[in-house]
Amino acid sequence: MEGRLGAGSASASSGDDDNDDSWIGTGVVGANCGTSWATCVPNGSASGADACSMEVEIVQIFDDSSPGGMCKNGIAINPGVEGDSKSGLFASNDNMLLSELDSTFINDASVLSGFLWGVGSSAFQTEGAWDKDGKGPSIWDTFTHKKGKVFMNETADSSCEGYYKVKDDIQLLKELKVNHYLLSISWPRIIPTGIKKEQVNEKGIKFYNDTINSLLENKIIPIVTLYHWDLPQVLQEKYGGWQNISMISYFNDYANLCFEKFGDRVKYWITFNNPWAIAEEGYETGEHAPGLKLSGVGAYKAAHHIIKTHAKVWHSYNKTWRSKQQGMVGISLTSAWGEPVDLTSQKDIEAAERYVQFYLGWFANPIYSGDYPEVMKNYVGRKSAQQGLGTSRLPSFSVQEKSYIKGTSDFLGINHFTTRYIIEKNYSAFQGPSYHTDRDLAELVDPKWPDPGSKWLYSVPWGFRRLLNFVKTQYGNPLIYITENGVSEKLQCIQLCDEWRMDYLKGYINELLKAINDGVNVKGYTVWSLLDKFEWNKGYSERFGLYHVDFKKGNKPRYPKASVQYYKMIINANGFPNPREVKSWHQKAIETCSITNQLLAADPLTSHMEMVTEIVVPTVFTLCILISAILLMFLLRKHN
Ligand code: NOJ
Repeated sequence: MEGRLGAGSASASSGDDDNDDSWIGTGVVGANCGTSWATCVPNGSASGADACSMEVEIVQIFDDSSPGGMCKNGIAINPGVEGDSKSGLFASNDNMLLSELDSTFINDASVLSGFLWGVGSSAFQTEGAWDKDGKGPSIWDTFTHKKGKVFMNETADSSCEGYYKVKDDIQLLKELKVNHYLLSISWPRIIPTGIKKEQVNEKGIKFYNDTINSLLENKIIPIVTLYHWDLPQVLQEKYGGWQNISMISYFNDYANLCFEKFGDRVKYWITFNNPWAIAEEGYETGEHAPGLKLSGVGAYKAAHHIIKTHAKVWHSYNKTWRSKQQGMVGISLTSAWGEPVDLTSQKDIEAAERYVQFYLGWFANPIYSGDYPEVMKNYVGRKSAQQGLGTSRLPSFSVQEKSYIKGTSDFLGINHFTTRYIIEKNYSAFQGPSYHTDRDLAELVDPKWPDPGSKWLYSVPWGFRRLLNFVKTQYGNPLIYITENGVSEKLQCIQLCDEWRMDYLKGYINELLKAINDGVNVKGYTVWSLLDKFEWNKGYSERFGLYHVDFKKGNKPRYPKASVQYYKMIINANGFPNPREVKSWHQKAIETCSITNQLLAADPLTSHMEMVTEIVVPTVFTLCILISAILLMFLLRKHN
């Protein structure tokens, strides 16, 4: 940590607490901030530190590399990006963020009254128990059991053992004092083949009933996602999964079963989490389950069916359940922000708009405006024609479908992690069909942006505010819940002092609060995620948790990282009271985690305990039974 923290504190001291006051009052932006790529957040701050004035060095992004970092006795000794050339800028960013913590609007109780603070997780990533109590296999079970699909061939067969640790995890939520918990239901756990009329698994229903009840008993609101990627394997095998239109009715039956069984208590439903990834990574690149590489065609088709399914489920709820249950049904969409490299270049501005339209607009536009974004229809249509196809690879909606789909979201869930700079880049249609080349753009990053964990995840807080303002203007200022925002780390060993995560949260939540001040209608925020967990094709190599999970130990113990304390303070204060206090939260959190780190470093005790419970006790127990059996036989013989 030395490297990054050292740089951070050094720079912070050049603009320390006493100077912070002079910066307060900056950061309120003009009405059309972020709504058009030509307008930029005005640089009104006394510090002069702003995205617009930042000198940007652009590099092309590279492919993922394997996870790094070093551990000694299972504890991190040089976590993060120590020695990385990026850490210098991080320090000055840190200054900028502190300078922009603005008490005049950030802690306005009326703006944030009823605001929901929470954390999230998903079934496949945490539950484990992949084949227990009647659960059917999902496409992710099948995918992870094949060699070469996941980093180190890791699986989620037991993952965090969340299936067996609901009570423990609810204690963690209580400790955090969150208002809500975002979780997902595993479709094959409650309908093993995916087809309701074939079989409903009562043990699965009981599991989610108990989970929901325990949350409510502890005054934690459940926000429930119906689909976080774990399609029943049978539906993939029989019908080709989301390539097939029959998914609409199978999913609708499943959703109605959930409304029937849980809807008396669940008031926030999310049909799909991140359909972009389902389509693009599952059916275009094949990096995710079901691993199909149907470049330029498969993703568009999957997305088309998912959008129709979403609409169908919203209508079902509306017609059958809404009046009784009084809940809401939304969808969670993921998008990075795309910023033009050159704000004076019309081509870059248009390319950046295309980037966001192909990402967010692909799904949001049909739901809010009834059709795919014009720019998508134009680009995919033109390339398809150049490729000699009679119709566009992007399917189209009929007039009836458009009006059926339009308006089918009571709220919009936004998942957001990072930002890209965008330039125009023309790809020849003869390179073959592909979602990526259809967009005619290149994604770039500033090498100075911090990237502590996943290779794709650069910390760029200002992009969050711009994205939210874009949603406000494009889709008529909808009700928004942030359903995922957070940062990962690469280390496999215990690293509890996650300063980069506290800095990330500070930056992103601050930009979120500014967006609310801009008039964006955000009513809740969810840190991704509660626990370290299975990170899809990256296995356990990227950790997003506020709690560290020791996957090497049988009972998967959880340990709080510093960000637990920090986020708890944010929740308690309903935002940021003032920079000085926020800094003290940071310091206190670091003190606490250092103590826990030290205790864990003196680890023999932990491993000793583990050895006692997992090896010595069972062995002694087995020996006792054997000896008793032998003695019994001996006595019986003697008796005879
Ligand atoms: C979005 C996905 O919904 C979630 O499952 C994943 O853990 C995060 N991205 C981070 O990659």
